[in-house]
Amino acid sequence: MASRRYFIETWGCQMNELDTQRMAGQLMQQGLLPTEDATEASVILLNSCSVREKAAQKAYSRLGIYRRYKEERPDLVIGFCGCVAQQEGEEALEKVRDLDFVVGPARVGELTEILERVRTGERVAATGFPEQRDFDLDTISRDSSYKGMVTLIEGCNKKCTFCIVPYTRGPERCRPLAEIVREVEHLLALGFVEIELLGQTVNHWKEPGDESIDFAVLLDTVARLRGLERLRFITSYPRDFTPAMVAEVGRHENICPYVHLPVQSGSNSVLKLMGRGYEVETYFDLVDQLRAARDGLALSTDLIVGFPGETDEDFEKTLELVERVRYAQIFAFKYSPRPGTPAPRLKVDVPTDDVASERLQRVFAVQDRIQLELNQELVGEEREILVTGWGKNEGSQMGRTPCHRIVHFDPQGVPADLGSLVKVRIDDASHYSLRGTRLDLGMPQAPKPRTRLTVVQ
Ligand code: SAH
Ligand code: F3S
Repeated sequence: MASRRYFIETWGCQMNELDTQRMAGQLMQQGLLPTEDATEASVILLNSCSVREKAAQKAYSRLGIYRRYKEERPDLVIGFCGCVAQQEGEEALEKVRDLDFVVGPARVGELTEILERVRTGERVAATGFPEQRDFDLDTISRDSSYKGMVTLIEGCNKKCTFCIVPYTRGPERCRPLAEIVREVEHLLALGFVEIELLGQTVNHWKEPGDESIDFAVLLDTVARLRGLERLRFITSYPRDFTPAMVAEVGRHENICPYVHLPVQSGSNSVLKLMGRGYEVETYFDLVDQLRAARDGLALSTDLIVGFPGETDEDFEKTLELVERVRYAQIFAFKYSPRPGTPAPRLKVDVPTDDVASERLQRVFAVQDRIQLELNQELVGEEREILVTGWGKNEGSQMGRTPCHRIVHFDPQGVPADLGSLVKVRIDDASHYSLRGTRLDLGMPQAPKPRTRLTVVQ
């Protein structure tokens, strides 16, 4: 008898994570349950990411492994999803004989119909960017008991010269405010306490048909919803961050004092070649505005090293930027040429792979020192922690500070519920996390009107 299990392998960004939850929800509606073991699944999906390094090659090698399972289980259905699938389209069906379907990120909502067609023997390629998009809130299998992700914008209209996303996720499409509010309220009613608003350029959101209602208005509206403890948003595009948005971050306690603000490079000439549309000075100005608006605000960023045209001096400017901003976290990558993007055709010298690797190590070394210093500054402080799970050591728990640092803490024999907020004193700091002790024991906690959720792993 065929198993009633599905297995999804997910790579990449938060948008992919949410797409996986949407596909999982549809599979669960068909009576399938999740499994962590691909060898016992009757449906296997690979949700791929094409942002960096040999993505297509990696995806085909994974599909090569999955298709071998069909020798033993001919009923197995294999689907290829995500950004690489969008790029490869029907070609993937030609290349991988046993692949049943290909679905692009803009069409994950159609999984149920696609599977029906596959079950009648058809091989389906559903890619591209249809005008009409459905968001069925109830078919999302939210796989966290405290954090709900809500899409504001799909796709991206920027044309950063290195980036494949506008080609794989298509042009920008904003959802109406009323629909977004409805989804957040739905999540709050279910007991979610943290909401993460998603978009490749999340702060470029505008009400369809009414440009005057922008991300500042949206932040203000959502932050006021009852029961919302923590509001986060990712990814902000530096050029689109207005003073009104900064003011909202300053005004609402429940907007987390943490902003991910990808800068990519500290050199204006590289930023120009990247087509980012801002200069380092305006970026610094925004950082200063945000820090002035909100005490203890933490920043993180994305950086690319070894970009075409990046000289030693350019790279030094990136190091200076990292020293100056003192990010809580950075995500740094070696430049990787993506098919179809303009950067590989730039008529400039491209740093060698060795040079790029060395630059990456240097930027990580600087960041490691800064991160440790910033974390050490928190030792002795008290913070409100959102409890996210169990720690590695027996009996220890884990959570996040409002500025998103990971804290391992000793619950002192009284484990806190997942998704609850507890007071913790920070006792110790390392590069990547903090250690602390729970403080609010013995204090009565107001019961939260929450529906208990079963967490399906
Ligand atoms: N929307 C985001 C970026 C999405 S891609 C933004 O505003 O910048 C996530 C990150 O991957 C980027 O910020 C960039 O640092 C990195 N990235 C994208 N394309 C890349 C490439 N071709 N090579 C190396 N890194 C890349
Ligand atoms: Fe990519 Fe630039 Fe959009 S990095 S996702 S094209 S903002």
